[in-house]
Amino acid sequence: MTRVFDDDLASGFGTRAIHAGQRPDPLAGAIMTPVYLTSTYVQDALGENKGYEYARGKNPTREAFERNVAALELGRHGFAFASGMACLDSIMKLFRSGDHVICAENVYGGTFRLFDRVLQHFGMTFSYVDTRDAQRVADAVRPNTRAILLETPSNPLMRITDLAAVSTIARQAGALLIVDNTFASPYFQRPFEHGADVVYHSTTKYLNGHSDMIGGVAIVNDDELAARLQFVQNAAGAVPGPFDAWLALRGTKTLHLRMRQHDANGRRAAEWLAALLGEEHVFYAGLSSHPQHDLAKRQMTGFGGMISIELGTRERAAHLLGRVRVFALAESLGGVESLISHPASMTHASVPVEVRARLGITEGLVRLSCGVEEGDDLLADLERGFEGMPQRGAAAPGRVPAEGEGRVAGGESPRRPTERLDDTSASCDP
Ligand SMILES: Cc1ncc(COP(=O)(O)O)c(C=O)c1O
Repeated sequence: MTRVFDDDLASGFGTRAIHAGQRPDPLAGAIMTPVYLTSTYVQDALGENKGYEYARGKNPTREAFERNVAALELGRHGFAFASGMACLDSIMKLFRSGDHVICAENVYGGTFRLFDRVLQHFGMTFSYVDTRDAQRVADAVRPNTRAILLETPSNPLMRITDLAAVSTIARQAGALLIVDNTFASPYFQRPFEHGADVVYHSTTKYLNGHSDMIGGVAIVNDDELAARLQFVQNAAGAVPGPFDAWLALRGTKTLHLRMRQHDANGRRAAEWLAALLGEEHVFYAGLSSHPQHDLAKRQMTGFGGMISIELGTRERAAHLLGRVRVFALAESLGGVESLISHPASMTHASVPVEVRARLGITEGLVRLSCGVEEGDDLLADLERGFEGMPQRGAAAPGRVPAEGEGRVAGGESPRRPTERLDDTSASCDP
């Protein structure tokens, strides 16, 4: 079973990011873990091998990555998968028909889709709860509740859940607390320190950080749980190829450096946007106006580069998405490059429209993933994006224009938004 090297855990984050899980290759002493492109391993004799039999079960490149991320989360065992969704699907195979899961009502749309459109048909039941309120989580517990699953900060509304409070509820219920830590990354938040049982990531995002692979990884502390998850990993086989594991391992070496810059750019952009649009229209836990800022400060050490903004109408969202140039209009997040997206028609299109409306995933909601470019260039790009933006009140009768809205730069006369967003026919809703 892939277990962290205990002596890695004594080092600081940056040292773990670069070295944890990796030892010079025994053949040539290669300082960087080689890509083990093999599907099988020669056996010395019947029943005798070097610890490797077949690469679905174990691959040295993948193992190095699994140990590395486990050490970053200060967990004990890591398991890599072919995507974040493959990872979650494998975690859910720890449960069985008849089990009940409490899921945060605001999660990545694909998580909701997996539960609602796939796993439900296998006899599992799900309750969707506003996990910002621990009492609601407690009220949703049933005798057959086996897991509580959440994201904090959540995608895309940046809701924060009190991990310690919910982990107490999970323990009392005899359920596992499963935390999607994709948005914060282990650099800013380590859910095991607050009582989580399973932590997982879409590796595709901050861990890899370069938008050039798809992957997922789960980390657990408990040896028995790890044995079960390893069984599923091998039995179901949703594993990454060695090259993707190697890319992700290369990515984590700079996680600490990238996260500091994502955070610096995220804070600057959030403050700039709050001054422009009004604090109530900017969702970023690093802003002191965020209703859960104090909780976020208690369980996170930084806030990263993810920001959502409410622009009031699809027309205003399309205007911004069509004008920015450094922020690329694309799905995904967490890469070195800045991205901008429209959750309602992209990442959360599979969430029913009435649920989206209730949660606040509106046609006017825009999500930004601030990359690690120069902060000045990101602000200049946003300024360009807001030039000539139709007034909030004009586009949505009855809505009060936000404080400070008159400060939109440029003062161009209202113009037709570009058609880039409006053509959603090709939206792939990954
Ligand atoms: C928070 C979160 N979790 C999980 C996933 C799924 O990961 P993947 O796209 O690698 O399957 C995503 C994808 O956007 C995500 O944003």
